[in-house]
Amino acid sequence: MKTIPIATVEDAPIKIGTRVLMRVDYNVPMTVDGEISDDKRMVDSLPTVRYLLERGARVILCSHFGRPDGKPEPQYSLRPVYEHLQELLPNVMVRFSEQTVGKAVEEQIETMPNGSVLLLENTRFTPDETANNPSFAKQLASLGEIFVNDAFGAAHRAHASTVGVASYLPGYAGFLMAREIEYLSKITDNPKRPFTVIIGGKKASDKLPLARKLADRADNVLVGGRIAQEWQDDGIKRRAKIYVAPDRGLDISLATVETWKPIIENSATIFWNGPLGQFDVDAKNGTGTRAVAQLVVNSHAVSVVGGGDTAAAVKDYQFTHVSTGGGAALEYIEGTTLPGIACLKQKGEK
Ligand code: 3PG
Repeated sequence: MKTIPIATVEDAPIKIGTRVLMRVDYNVPMTVDGEISDDKRMVDSLPTVRYLLERGARVILCSHFGRPDGKPEPQYSLRPVYEHLQELLPNVMVRFSEQTVGKAVEEQIETMPNGSVLLLENTRFTPDETANNPSFAKQLASLGEIFVNDAFGAAHRAHASTVGVASYLPGYAGFLMAREIEYLSKITDNPKRPFTVIIGGKKASDKLPLARKLADRADNVLVGGRIAQEWQDDGIKRRAKIYVAPDRGLDISLATVETWKPIIENSATIFWNGPLGQFDVDAKNGTGTRAVAQLVVNSHAVSVVGGGDTAAAVKDYQFTHVSTGGGAALEYIEGTTLPGIACLKQKGEK
C-alpha cells in the first residue's frame, strides 16, 4: 500500500473570521461518575485548534459521543467534554451549542468573535448522522466555509460529519490526522526491517484475522494475551515467524518475555496492538505487558501502538507514536482505505 499525500490545514485558505467546521473525535472514555478518564483525544486535537485560532478563524467543533442510537439521550451529551475543553483552552472563548444544526446554531455562529470556539452537541443525536443523510450533511456543512477533519478515531465511519460534509466543503486533514497517517503508514508502506508485530488482547475472533494478515507482511509476530491461548495454526505458510506465548495464566510470564527480548531488541519497526495480560481483572496482571513495553522503548525501533485498550495499558511509556484510533487504527493497518481520509483533498489538488 502506498499512502497518498493529503492536503492539511496548512494548505487551507484561512483568513480572519473564516468559519471552520472541524470534526474531532471527542468520544472519550468516562468513569461511572461521569468524569473523563483519558483526555488524550482532546489534548491531541489542540494543536490544530490553536493553529486555527491563531489565524483568527471561528472554529466550530463537532463530534459524536457514544452510541445514542439517533436519539438525544442526556447521558450522551457533549456538555462534560465542553467543560473540560474550557479548562484545556483557558485563554480562549469556548461556547457550547445545545443543537447540532439549525437556526439557533447559525445565530450563535453569527455572533461568534474571531478566534473563538463553538462546540456543537453530539452529531449522533439524529439517525441522519450514521445514515450519512445528504440533507443533514449539507446543513452541517453550511455552518462552515472549510472542513477540517482531525477525527482519526472515527475515520473508518462513513457518516455525515466525517464524510458527507466533504461533498459540500473543501476538506483538509488536521495535524492529529496527518500525524496518524504519517506514523501508521510507516507500518503499511515498506516498514524498516526487521518488522515485528506484537498482538494481544481478549477478542481473539477480531484479532486472529488481523494477526494473520500482518504475518504476511511482518518478519516476526509475537502473540500473547488471551488470543495466544486460542491461537490455532491454519497451516498456511506466511512470511513472518510466529511466536505464540505458551502461558496459560492471566498474564504473560517473564520467562516468555525473556525469549522475546532478542527479537524486540533487533527490530527496526514494531507495531503493538492489545495488552498481554488481563489487568482489567487485577492490576498485577500488567507485569508482563509492562516488561514488554520497557523492551520496546529500549530498542531502537520505530514503535507504533494502536487500538483502544493498548494505549491506556502502556500510557507511561514513550513510544514513537500512540494512535488515538481503536477500530480506525486497526482498519488502517489492515490496509483499508478509510472513508474519512479518502474524502479529503489531496496535496496540490485545486
Ligand atoms: C472509537 O471510539 O473507536 C471511535 O470514536 C468510533 O466510535 P464508534 O465505534 O462508536 O463509531
